[in-house]
Amino acid sequence: MAAMIGSGQTIKTGLQPTLSHQRGHCRFYQTPISTLTTENWRRRRSITVASCSLHHNSENSLKSHCEKLVHEFDPEVPIEKALTPPSSWYTDASFYDFELDRVFYRGWQAVGQFLPLRYTEQIKEPRDFFTGRLGTVEFVVCRDEKGKVQAFHNVCRHHASILASGSGQKTCFVCPYHGWTYGLDGALRKATRITGIQNFNVNEFGLIAIDVAVWGPFVLLNLERKMSPDYDVGDNDLVENEWLGSTSELLKCGGVDTSLSYLFRREYTIDCNWKVFCDNYLDGGYHVPYAHKGLASGLELDSYSTTTYEKVSIQSCAGGSTERVGSKALYAFIYPNFMINRYGPWMDTNLVVPLGPRKCQVIFDYFIEPHLKDDKSFIEQSLIDSEKVQMEDIILCDGVQRGLESPAYCSGRYAPTVENAMYHFHQLLHSNLCM
Ligand code: FES
Repeated sequence: MAAMIGSGQTIKTGLQPTLSHQRGHCRFYQTPISTLTTENWRRRRSITVASCSLHHNSENSLKSHCEKLVHEFDPEVPIEKALTPPSSWYTDASFYDFELDRVFYRGWQAVGQFLPLRYTEQIKEPRDFFTGRLGTVEFVVCRDEKGKVQAFHNVCRHHASILASGSGQKTCFVCPYHGWTYGLDGALRKATRITGIQNFNVNEFGLIAIDVAVWGPFVLLNLERKMSPDYDVGDNDLVENEWLGSTSELLKCGGVDTSLSYLFRREYTIDCNWKVFCDNYLDGGYHVPYAHKGLASGLELDSYSTTTYEKVSIQSCAGGSTERVGSKALYAFIYPNFMINRYGPWMDTNLVVPLGPRKCQVIFDYFIEPHLKDDKSFIEQSLIDSEKVQMEDIILCDGVQRGLESPAYCSGRYAPTVENAMYHFHQLLHSNLCM
């Protein structure tokens, strides 16, 4: 029979048993489980591995191996003389893990893997939710009964089952394994068949919260828990400062806003490191006349310009003859892996999700100005054109990855007048990886 637990009921508070007590081979941290928040989740994650004596030495040597690779790129050398990061940044498995920890588990991240619903539009009603994954982090984002946007690690506190799947509407999250049930505020509402359990405090077994914020139509997560539980997820100052820096007004003026109609999503899995796709995006249109002849005919490439900001770079180019591209195209790259493309009546976003040292998924979401949302033939033709560009890029990225894995290649050079956004990206990475 299920034991019903109210959120205010405390059975017993105490320190959790140490792992050495439980398994007899691994030191553990004497931390009250009530302090288990995302704030210390990252620290505990590394402590868990690092504190295992069997892994301690190899963990340290992997760390120093990765730090050595980081310093093989020198961000102080001016672009005219600089070497690009070594190929190991794009091929080394331990570097990939290091990067997840330093780059993706810190700061604000647009989220979206496996999500048909990523935008605030789709979590606009209470009880709407979506799930996703970033590195090894499984997450669920929902709007709770009071309308507050919430995000949690999507992992049951009983035996770690993934709790929710996909997206939709729920009044609570019921674990598919043994039925533990959590409210949309993350509180544990029901733990089944726990009669006789001791040292169990229900308040300490809610879902682990993740900081979440909303900017325009986008939902962002920050895995470093820093915010007080009552912060305002729609606090644009916070996101503008930390995510967009001084570019938020530029983007709004450039037509990146919530007035556009969401159309749909396309996903591409590419056999390349996530940075290969980003580099390709950030070469200042260098590859366009060679690899995208169809697209090049709709752009005035001589007008191409790039400006870099704190964590954002914006490339822009005058349009040419096509209705799809219109009079101007704006390509904003938001470090580390999110791109917003605004051209003609269109906006598309590209989220580059790392899936492994040599695999990533690129998620395209398409928006259009509302007056065209029913113009099927225009939309269809535009998407055919867009798909052609994606296929051309996939072939390029696949080829670059194979080249990076060749013993013939270590580092390359930048074309200084066009590839400054790419150089900026590598400098930001270096800075992040040194932290
Ligand atoms: S793992 Fe979720 S209830 Fe057992």
